[in-house]
Amino acid sequence: MGSQEYAEKSADIPRCEIEVPHPCCLVIFGASGDLAKRKLIPSIYRLYRQQLLPRGFFVLGLARTPKTSEQFREDMRIGIRETLPEECDDTCWRNFSSILEYRTVEYGEPESFRKNIADVLPLKEGIAGTGGNRVFYVATPPTIYEDIIFSLQAAGLSREQGNTVKIVIEKPFGRDLESARRLNTVLLQAFEERQIYRIDHYLAKETVQNILMFRFANSIFEPLWNRRYIDHVQITSAETLGIEQRAGYYEKAGVLRDMFQNHMFQLLSLTALEPPALFSHNRVRDEKAKVFQAIRPFNLDRLDETVVVGQYGKGICNGKAVYGYREEAGVAADSVTPTYAALKVNIENWRWNGVPFYLRSGKRLKSRTTEISIHFKQVPHMMFPSTMGNNIEPNTLLLRIQPDEGITLEFQAKNPGSRFCLNPVKLNFSYPANLVLDAYERVLLDCMQGDQMLFIRDDLVDLTWSLLSPLIDRLESLSDIPFPNYAAGTEGPAAALLLAERDGRRWKPL
Ligand code: BG6
Repeated sequence: MGSQEYAEKSADIPRCEIEVPHPCCLVIFGASGDLAKRKLIPSIYRLYRQQLLPRGFFVLGLARTPKTSEQFREDMRIGIRETLPEECDDTCWRNFSSILEYRTVEYGEPESFRKNIADVLPLKEGIAGTGGNRVFYVATPPTIYEDIIFSLQAAGLSREQGNTVKIVIEKPFGRDLESARRLNTVLLQAFEERQIYRIDHYLAKETVQNILMFRFANSIFEPLWNRRYIDHVQITSAETLGIEQRAGYYEKAGVLRDMFQNHMFQLLSLTALEPPALFSHNRVRDEKAKVFQAIRPFNLDRLDETVVVGQYGKGICNGKAVYGYREEAGVAADSVTPTYAALKVNIENWRWNGVPFYLRSGKRLKSRTTEISIHFKQVPHMMFPSTMGNNIEPNTLLLRIQPDEGITLEFQAKNPGSRFCLNPVKLNFSYPANLVLDAYERVLLDCMQGDQMLFIRDDLVDLTWSLLSPLIDRLESLSDIPFPNYAAGTEGPAAALLLAERDGRRWKPL
């Protein structure tokens, strides 16, 4: 059946005012790296252009690579030119660049932290008027996290003395339960939980934030949001990109660590959580924790009913011939790292018992789509004539995270003219193309404002790793893995279809 779309383009959503945070300085560890150049500094620059940074503000970039502040500024200018070609104007850049400084530091040496950070900041803070408030942003490879935390503590930089001190930690947060626990222990020896901001950039996407608003600011959907009306839920994050230049990291991570422990499980928890009594960071995070606690541990003896993993071979993606994963630079020719996974999750509580959540994510797939689709139950009784068949499509509600951000409700409508002919139609809401803040801008602002809602609390890290670590261990212990098992540019491994089909369901096509 073809589906018709009656679309309501919603370009004129009123924009709310964004609060400018209190004065502070941003200290970036790993300032010579890619994240600083491509994401952090361009995000700070956009905030600066939109006048969303406080008056008292400066950035101190730190890394091991020796370079001058001048060289650092030049590197950052190149990064901004590349990532925001339309927004880089000379006057704005000149003013902005004056708030950027760089120093070389040795991560594992507290003395170096004393000399290059503790002794340097007070003078700069006095001039800039930041009130001594500090945000330490750790944007280095994860192997260095612990050294940095240790040196910050040893140099007396983690303590608050009438000022605020925060630390932002990038993902990956550990590579299994044990390493995540160790990192949490090290962090909590130096900082208090309220000072710690563990990033999951998915949470900062407008459309992800909208999940809770949509669920709890409308009275018409929430009464249906349970096992009585919902048949199952699909959460998809499909990419057309491969691993780019990240083989070093990805070979050791794989898709379950890279996408599931964080982004996919966060999307799951926002879809499944109970309404908190208050929209406050800890109340929302308490409810997320309850969802993770209610997930049935994966049955490691029946892996085929729980999980399907895959790795892409060569193929055609976006019209271009692309390499298979094993041919990518830096990847072992016999690598068994999965680039795709489909996972069935059961949440055992009153709301969701018997409603499977199917999660899938992969690289080099047919299209770039991140979405949550809620599949409602079939009508309880088919009263229409048998000539219409029994295949009336059940209603679907689609939360479109990216691209083409918005919400679509699919339902049946009578075809004009005919007596009995029904067709699925779509009621569509779309966000305007350029959302006000991108995920990193939101993360930076919220952290400066001291709002932890979009960051991951220590217990959530523990709970998600507790669920996934045994599964990853079991998968990694398997020999004889038939990789590659999907061609680039396709829907993923054929076996993944079975995960849903075995339950009489179908994946939504990509
Ligand atoms: C990152 C993963 O966290 O998220 C990447 O490490 C992935 O592998 C990326 O490509 C996807 O993010 P987005 O915002 O492009 O969906």
